[in-house]
Amino acid sequence: MSPYKYSTLAVHAGQHPDPLTGAVNVPVYLSSTFELTGIGSDRGWDYSRAGNPTRDRLETALAALEGGTCGHAFTTGMAAISALVAMLRSGDHIVCSRDVYAGTVRLFDQIVSGYGIEIEYVDTSDLAAVEAAMKPKTKLVHIETPSNPLMVLTDIAAVAKIAHAHGAEVSVDNTFLSPALQSPLALGADIVMHSTTKYLNGHSDGLGGALIGTKPEHKERFLLIQKAAGGVMSPFECFLVLRGIKTLPLRIQQHEENGRAVAEFLATHAKVSKLAYPGLKSHPQYDLAVKQQKGFGSMMSFELKSREEAARFLTAIKIFLNAESLGGVESLASHSATTTHGSVSEEVRQRMGINEGRIRLSIGIEDKEDLIADLDQALEAV
Ligand SMILES: Cc1ncc(COP(=O)(O)O)c(C=O)c1O
Repeated sequence: MSPYKYSTLAVHAGQHPDPLTGAVNVPVYLSSTFELTGIGSDRGWDYSRAGNPTRDRLETALAALEGGTCGHAFTTGMAAISALVAMLRSGDHIVCSRDVYAGTVRLFDQIVSGYGIEIEYVDTSDLAAVEAAMKPKTKLVHIETPSNPLMVLTDIAAVAKIAHAHGAEVSVDNTFLSPALQSPLALGADIVMHSTTKYLNGHSDGLGGALIGTKPEHKERFLLIQKAAGGVMSPFECFLVLRGIKTLPLRIQQHEENGRAVAEFLATHAKVSKLAYPGLKSHPQYDLAVKQQKGFGSMMSFELKSREEAARFLTAIKIFLNAESLGGVESLASHSATTTHGSVSEEVRQRMGINEGRIRLSIGIEDKEDLIADLDQALEAV
């Protein structure tokens, strides 16, 4: 446990001055290979796929922010999820949140299942369903909370208890809230996963992913996967995420404030229905959000009446950009059925409750009055 508070960690964890020059920013070590000091001896690094000084600093920072014992940075969030499941074996069983990022479903159904690993999608907000899904061969329960785009919460502590009683580990995709607003490891999870592409980078100018573990075998396993499979984050991307992390607490404060203001505006708008945002008292899991989160985040989604209404809204927005992704300083709006869930069949989307009018918002750090005025005029155009 670090003696420092979160904002201090964000600025300083892994980000001490360069021992060689005193540079206060972590240098970008653009070197694929490192001079050895003899046969079988080195200065800590030999080849950048196995380890790079800039990546080491980011991995230290990520572990500190999530309260884990090791951090591992990958090329993308999907590469991190691939690494998470790379050590499972044929015959193993994964329980996965049903309402999970569609890219995770694509990876699991179209690639991972081909290795003989069984994946079972469960409504993990329903603890009885999680308990019922556990099998002797269940190795991993992978959850995403809040979920995308319906903002359904899973009780991390309760799921960890169930999984551990059955000898399985719990991994949490913490991308939507960032380590600033949710600490899955403190709630009993074993591994945290991030798409650093989102809030950790924070500026929509890079792709990356991370795994943060809690046990010596996680470090051993993820280091091996980095070295053997090779999907490691480049030194420059690591620098961008390190730079982003320094302002994470400040950015999140503004994201949060704007998120609440926008949600309050949308909640009473006549053209908006089924607003999903865990910070509203009307959200069925508001109490769980208060209990397990340190804030409500700035992701939300709502329904318009049809795909045509959604198209008119997305054409009319001026500050919000019609774009996929989330967690950057700029506000984004996207049509869930054709973007994040475009690869999911209509039937599955219907089952999930994602209709053709569903719009997801990622609220940025612009002035909240400007954002609300933009939404107001775009809804007027609907
Ligand atoms: C919740 C969540 N997890 C994982 C990913 C995948 O991350 P990446 O795009 O960095 O591969 C995304 C991307 O949108 C996401 O939203």
